[in-house]
Amino acid sequence: MGCFIAIAVIASIIALVFVFKIFLKLTTGWDRSPTCLVGKTAIVTGANSGIGFYTAQDFAKRGAKVILACRNQKRAEEARSKIVEATGNPNVIVKILDQGSLASVRAFAKEINETEEKIDILVNNAGLGGIEHQISADGLSLIMQTNYFGPFLLTHLLIDLLKKSAPSRIVNVASDAAHFANLNINDLNGIPDAYFSKSVDYSNTKLCNILFTNELARRLKGSGVETYSIHPGAVETNFFDNFPPNAKRVFKVVAAVFYKTTEEGAQTSIYASVSKDVVGKSGTYFADCKRGWMPRAAKDQELSRKLWEKSVEFVKLTEEERQLL
Ligand SMILES: NC(=O)c1ccc[n+]([C@@H]2O[C@H](COP(=O)([O-])OP(=O)(O)OC[C@H]3O[C@@H](n4cnc5c(N)ncnc54)[C@H](OP(=O)(O)O)[C@@H]3O)[C@@H](O)[C@H]2O)c1
Repeated sequence: MGCFIAIAVIASIIALVFVFKIFLKLTTGWDRSPTCLVGKTAIVTGANSGIGFYTAQDFAKRGAKVILACRNQKRAEEARSKIVEATGNPNVIVKILDQGSLASVRAFAKEINETEEKIDILVNNAGLGGIEHQISADGLSLIMQTNYFGPFLLTHLLIDLLKKSAPSRIVNVASDAAHFANLNINDLNGIPDAYFSKSVDYSNTKLCNILFTNELARRLKGSGVETYSIHPGAVETNFFDNFPPNAKRVFKVVAAVFYKTTEEGAQTSIYASVSKDVVGKSGTYFADCKRGWMPRAAKDQELSRKLWEKSVEFVKLTEEERQLL
């Protein structure tokens, strides 16, 4: 009898997992746009792995010149080789960008501005989570700098080129984790006062990505540059490598069963970057290749404006640079 119950329980669990997998496959959004990117230039940050890798590979498949903006030369070159081999497009280049350093972001932007005639798509994808709260060499919260201040500065420094290339797009990879944010606008670099402070630390950065997108969309109105934030879903990537070993093991098991594949996870980034459906919807938050459920805090225009003003100070924009947006 005991054995029969055990078999019944195991069979039920397998059936449930199977049903969930089918549900996940049916609800995962796929970008089906036939958009050709020949003659276009795209930058994808954090393109050496995960969602960024598949996003860059898709752009290369469509014929774009793709700039892999990565912090590690070796990992980036390996990704480049894979993309060139998979797509047959040799027009894929590596440039070094460390979003955890204001100097590196400035050096990267300077090189792009000096060497590229246009940028049609900028995907601010690079990001990390699961790290202890620490302060960067620039005196900023490292996770906030990597996930938000870095892309904020980069976007500012490339905005002239993006405007000259209009119609062009900026896609900010955020997350539904933003729903769990507890942002203190007066202490953006502090440790969140919350029980799961590491998770909230990450969630805060993702809320900032969405607030930034919304304010950017307002400031770019009429420029021909559109911007969107996206949630890729829960995706099996290297993202969980920074988590403590036990948590990592749990995530790996959960991910194998419940998460999207990396290619599936890249679809909404690709959709927001190339689909004609999103034109005129600047400021929209997408998930599964359709309008997503934007966190309530992200709709607060006053908060977006305050965040912008504080960010300008933290990334030390010059007076001239402030006028760009
Ligand atoms: N996976 C998910 O379930 C999930 C869910 C929601 C949102 N997201 C977001 O999706 C984006 C991509 O993450 P992923 O899941 O694809 O993880 P991933 O495989 O770890 O990719 C993250 C990329 O960001 C790069 N990166 C990290 N710190 C950087 C820095 N300081 N400067 C430049 N590049 C840096 C990484 O480079 P290295 O290889 O050198 O570390 C890597 O290329 C992130 O913004 C993340 O917040 C992910």
